Amino acid sequence: MTRKSGMTVVVTGASGRTGSRVARAALAAGLTVRAATRAQGFDWADRSTWARTLRDADAAYLVHPGDVGSPQATRAVGLLAHEAVSLGVRRLVLLSARGEVHARPTEEALRESGADWTVLRSAWFMQNFSEGPLVEELRAGGELVFPGGDVKEPFVDLRDVADVVVAALTAGDRYVGQGIDVSGPRLLTFGEAVAEIARATGRELTYRPVSAAEYGARLAGFGEPPEAVDLLVDVFETLLDGRNAHLSDGVERVLGRPPRDFTRFATEAAAAGTWTA
Ligand SMILES: NC(=O)c1ccc[n+]([C@@H]2O[C@H](COP(=O)([O-])OP(=O)(O)OC[C@H]3O[C@@H](n4cnc5c(N)ncnc54)[C@H](OP(=O)(O)O)[C@@H]3O)[C@@H](O)[C@H]2O)c1
Repeated sequence: MTRKSGMTVVVTGASGRTGSRVARAALAAGLTVRAATRAQGFDWADRSTWARTLRDADAAYLVHPGDVGSPQATRAVGLLAHEAVSLGVRRLVLLSARGEVHARPTEEALRESGADWTVLRSAWFMQNFSEGPLVEELRAGGELVFPGGDVKEPFVDLRDVADVVVAALTAGDRYVGQGIDVSGPRLLTFGEAVAEIARATGRELTYRPVSAAEYGARLAGFGEPPEAVDLLVDVFETLLDGRNAHLSDGVERVLGRPPRDFTRFATEAAAAGTWTA
């Protein structure tokens, strides 16, 4: 996944939801992309794989596969950022979560590395509904079970997140040392989001709110390890208590255009057959 350009960016999670879009946006901007996933020999859990991935690059997009607020993410991001700086890869952009107090130590670990850092704090992804663990339940069972109560969240389209990452990487020093909070343009409850998807698909889809503890028990039943379940229950209880029910202007500020709306996302993903039973 390379193209000739002045800047080489290491993209972690390049086969995942955010990284794949960051890689596409970076290529479109003329950057050279070095994908860093396990298939390429890069493993967050194995430090011996980091140097060969980072060496001679100019910048890196860091997305830890576990929750950004997990102790594993804090430790790995801190160590990797130090290694990157020692190899001369100073420009690092970390994906974090908007309003997630648990994520602060990971952001701090990045800052402490001495890197030219930017932290992108994202709202809930629109693509949580179309890719990843939640989609199958919605597609096959017609129901989303989630501890989102009736709280409002400004879901963000990952294409906008990716565009902001690349804009930050290519803007020289402009966003160095800054946190950028990004959200979509509209507050929706999880029920309203599912109703938008139902309209777009013409199917009857429902949202069933459960407590964070009940949701944790479901995750444990699906084989999620106990420490990860405990963290997620804690994260959901705090993140979904209403503190994030407001918009953030990062997309407009960095890109000079409004963020994509949920209706557009739902219409496009429905047309692609995402929720076809
Ligand atoms: N969901 C949300 O709404 C939200 C909001 C804000 C922030 N976040 C943060 O977003 C992050 C998740 O990002 P995402 O949704 O883009 O991830 P994702 O779609 O789950 O993809 C995970 C990526 O990480 C790679 N990966 C997994 N284990 C790896 C390992 N041991 N070493 C190297 N690469 C590994 C995977 O590639 P391979 O399997 O091919 O190696 C894949 O490319 C979390 O830190 C979360 O806290 C999420």
